[in-house]
Amino acid sequence: MSIGGLDHIGVAVKDLDGAISLYRDVLGLKLEGIHVLAERGVRVAFFSVGGEAHIELLEPLSNESTIAKFLTSHGEGIHHLALKVENIEAVLEEFKQKGLTLIDEKPKAGAEGKKIAFVHPKSTKGVLLELCEEP
Ligand code: CO
Repeated sequence: MSIGGLDHIGVAVKDLDGAISLYRDVLGLKLEGIHVLAERGVRVAFFSVGGEAHIELLEPLSNESTIAKFLTSHGEGIHHLALKVENIEAVLEEFKQKGLTLIDEKPKAGAEGKKIAFVHPKSTKGVLLELCEEP
């Protein structure tokens, strides 16, 4: 098992451009990049918060996006915690054997060439967990 730190906290937002103004211009965080992840139905912006952790703002591209569904049921707010891992396939296998419910049995492509996978919040005390491995 190799959890290597907190990679980012994901925040669901309705209006990415407005949220970017808040995080960059009001809070003073450094905007690192904006990515369209069409296959996941989201547009995301990453901010540095100093140190190694980041904040990821996620805006749905359509009503079918899981972020759109989250916004409908929860409103804007913290959506997931992302942990850095070294061998994501091995961690997924280990979590599965330990009885956690995986949303993704195999890693998917995330922003900036990362490999990512989600663990269902019903097996993690209500917190959607993302695992991510740097390229
Ligand atoms: Co994320």
